[in-house]
Amino acid sequence: MEYKRNILITGGAGFIGSHVVRLFVDKYPEYRVINLDKLTYAGNLANLKDIEEKENYTFVKADICDFDKMMALFEEYAIDGVIHLAAESHVDRSIKDPFTFAKTNVIGTLSLLQAAKLSWDGKFEGKRFYHISTDEVYGALKFDGSFFVETTKYNPHSPYSASKASSDHFVRAFHDTYGLPTIVTNCSNNYGPYQFPEKLIPLFINNIRHNKPLPVYGKGENVRDWLYVEDHARAIDIIFHQGNIAETYNIGGFNEWKNIDLIKVIIKTVDRLLGNEEGTSEGLITYVTDRAGHDLRYAIDSTKLKTELGWEPSLQFEEGIEKTVRWYLDNQEWLDNVTSGAYQEYYDKMYGNKPEGDERIAGIG
Ligand code: NAD
Ligand code: TYD
Repeated sequence: MEYKRNILITGGAGFIGSHVVRLFVDKYPEYRVINLDKLTYAGNLANLKDIEEKENYTFVKADICDFDKMMALFEEYAIDGVIHLAAESHVDRSIKDPFTFAKTNVIGTLSLLQAAKLSWDGKFEGKRFYHISTDEVYGALKFDGSFFVETTKYNPHSPYSASKASSDHFVRAFHDTYGLPTIVTNCSNNYGPYQFPEKLIPLFINNIRHNKPLPVYGKGENVRDWLYVEDHARAIDIIFHQGNIAETYNIGGFNEWKNIDLIKVIIKTVDRLLGNEEGTSEGLITYVTDRAGHDLRYAIDSTKLKTELGWEPSLQFEEGIEKTVRWYLDNQEWLDNVTSGAYQEYYDKMYGNKPEGDERIAGIG
């Protein structure tokens, strides 16, 4: 079948990527969606079980750092659009292992950019390279009611945000130098189904379920701005189709929470849904040594996206948290497979034996 577009989505087996892949595969049967993922510890093909048999969906296991492979893929699938999500994404891991972050997030992004540039060879009409980034590149805000806007100066503090900032600069440089049609978006913290349980919300839901301690960094006073993952995927769809080339858009839900207050909401919700008295699990809260360089506060101003492209979050936070907690409690097998490492066998079951030279990072660190 001849497809109207051939879209490469990188990191599609991860948390946000799996929601973006699902949305595109379901909504655009006229597009061929190629999901390229290395399947690191964070990649899980079970996240896409419901769409893996769809005709317009193709999975390719590859490392974005492998430039020759990227070139070959652009040619083989006549890629005309890229939505780039593949990355190392966890701040705590970046503190322990910054090299892997520089490699995947910086060199990997550069390798994709170079492959797009060479294979499109100046014929940029109708092409698009959309890079997904984070609000963490802007640094940290004080408790003064200010927001990150698109023109806020970059000031990353963690190896993760430094690597994302670097990749953002490369993307913009490829537009300014070679005319590559790029777009960058910077989004706030996402939550929802299929998030790897090393991140705050799924980790705490899982620990409450197992009656395990809830490690709160520092005094729990840091503030994050939370957005339901499907609202992010919807924003990506709108921006991919209607966003202006060379623009930056901030994505966020004006939904700031102090960690400790958020944790108490999670505890209440899990307790209630498990049939326990609300707040029973508060005894599991354990204050631990703060994260090194822990950014105090993030808050995104997404007015530009609303005004120019009409996007708004669809879910109230209370609804989003209720849906999320329910999903993890209803999908205990998914959580158990991820925490035991069994999910890493999924590829072998679906696609046969893993290729030579394949490397897997062990389960949760
Ligand atoms: P994730 O860690 O859940 O998924 C990342 C995916 O990338 C995994 O499937 C992994 O296997 C794949 N990957 C890693 N290295 C690769 C490589 N070298 N080659 C190919 N694939 C590779 O991450 P996420 O939370 O879904 O984040 C996706 C993107 O969105 C990232 O770029 C992240 O920086 C950005 N982002 C995340 C958030 C958030 O709250 N999670 C917020 C804003 C922006
Ligand atoms: P996280 O989900 O790792 O996202 P990010 O660091 O990218 O914002 O953490 C969200 C917040 O929760 C952050 O302020 C760190 C804090 N946190 C804890 O207090 N305990 C934990 O075990 C984790 C994973 C995070």
